[in-house]
Amino acid sequence: MTLQLTEKDRAMLRGDEGAAKKMAMSIIVRMAEISNAEKLLDIVGAHIDSTVYIGDAGLEFAEKLASLGAKVAVPTTLNVSGIDEHHWQEWSVSSEWAQPAHRQMIAYQSMGTIPTWTCAPYQAVTKPAFGEQIAWGESNAIVFANSVIGARTERYPDLFDICCAITGRAPAMGLHLTKNRAGQILFRLRNISTDLQKSDEFYPVLGHLIGKLALDKIPVIDGMTVTPTDDQFKAFGAGAASSGGVALFHVVGITPEASSLEDAFHGNEPAQIMDVTMDMLRESRQALNHTDSGKLDMVAVGCPHLSLAEYKKLASLIKGKNKHPDVKFLITSNRAMTLLAQEAGILPILKDFGVQITVDTCSLTSPMLPPEIKQMMTNSAKHSYYAPGLLGKDVAYGSLEDCVNSAIAGYIIQDESLWKK
Ligand code: F3S
Repeated sequence: MTLQLTEKDRAMLRGDEGAAKKMAMSIIVRMAEISNAEKLLDIVGAHIDSTVYIGDAGLEFAEKLASLGAKVAVPTTLNVSGIDEHHWQEWSVSSEWAQPAHRQMIAYQSMGTIPTWTCAPYQAVTKPAFGEQIAWGESNAIVFANSVIGARTERYPDLFDICCAITGRAPAMGLHLTKNRAGQILFRLRNISTDLQKSDEFYPVLGHLIGKLALDKIPVIDGMTVTPTDDQFKAFGAGAASSGGVALFHVVGITPEASSLEDAFHGNEPAQIMDVTMDMLRESRQALNHTDSGKLDMVAVGCPHLSLAEYKKLASLIKGKNKHPDVKFLITSNRAMTLLAQEAGILPILKDFGVQITVDTCSLTSPMLPPEIKQMMTNSAKHSYYAPGLLGKDVAYGSLEDCVNSAIAGYIIQDESLWKK
């Protein structure tokens, strides 16, 4: 298939609009050709995941673009970086790491981006609208944008996302196109109590399960009796995009492209139908627990980054209580949500309890945790999935209530009541 370029695309490719656009457009055109895209399309926004410092190659790429005078052509938010810019010295981050990680932050900021430094841009700034074409990186953000908002983005890899932002163009392929957004596998919830469906703890577990079963296919979930909150969808999507490669899901009667089963499958029959039972969910929850020692060094919440609603819920759980002195309690969030939490009078409650807050980054993308932290607990399926391999830590999974109760007791507590029914 021959790629059709507009005159403006060709002008960028020739270098008429500067060296940075030439470099970015040449990468986009090559990717579009490999992907058999017929044309490029306009995007209205971008979210850049290449901001995380993982070595010299990513830094060199960012600084090369910056030195060529790169500027983004559409509103562009930034994912987490490798450090908490103003507080990295409070953690175990070496200056050898912090210095290049900070250079990478500066390079991306110089391109006219919005320095959100968050993996949950859909909660920190205005969201894209239904049907809008965007180029987002970061798996949890991609699946939220596609599924919950109904905006359209492919799974953009690091380095390619910024090329789309600089040109304002993306290959017309994958999830940008209506024909590729039909559901593929039907998951029917069977005898899952409404109490469990209402609980925040349900969504990471369900997401982990669906990701493992659907892999990179588009799952359609039927039988949900409650309407999940944005935070619950956030937790579900992050789990499904970690254990699998889910970039779009539909929930029948709830998400915007699934008013009915027929709508979700675009009138086609599902390629596969699976029932989701309590036994499967219990097994999935168990798979998120990588330790049975009961010991606890740190609770980590905010993966993806904590929202204001989650800040408020945590404050209500810990108010007037005391954390065990041997357990650290880490929140990862962004500056916007943390400022709002401060304005809402929440930060003093967190401080009294002994909570530490990190912004701009997270414990999986910054080498911030001291070696004495060995046993962790989290309410995030994504954190639980990645932390053993990336950090070499033992991790237990529980609800936010479990995390708070464990931090107070000094050992891991997990309430089984919702999972027994
Ligand atoms: Fe965000 Fe870090 Fe989790 S980037 S989704 S807090 S692994």
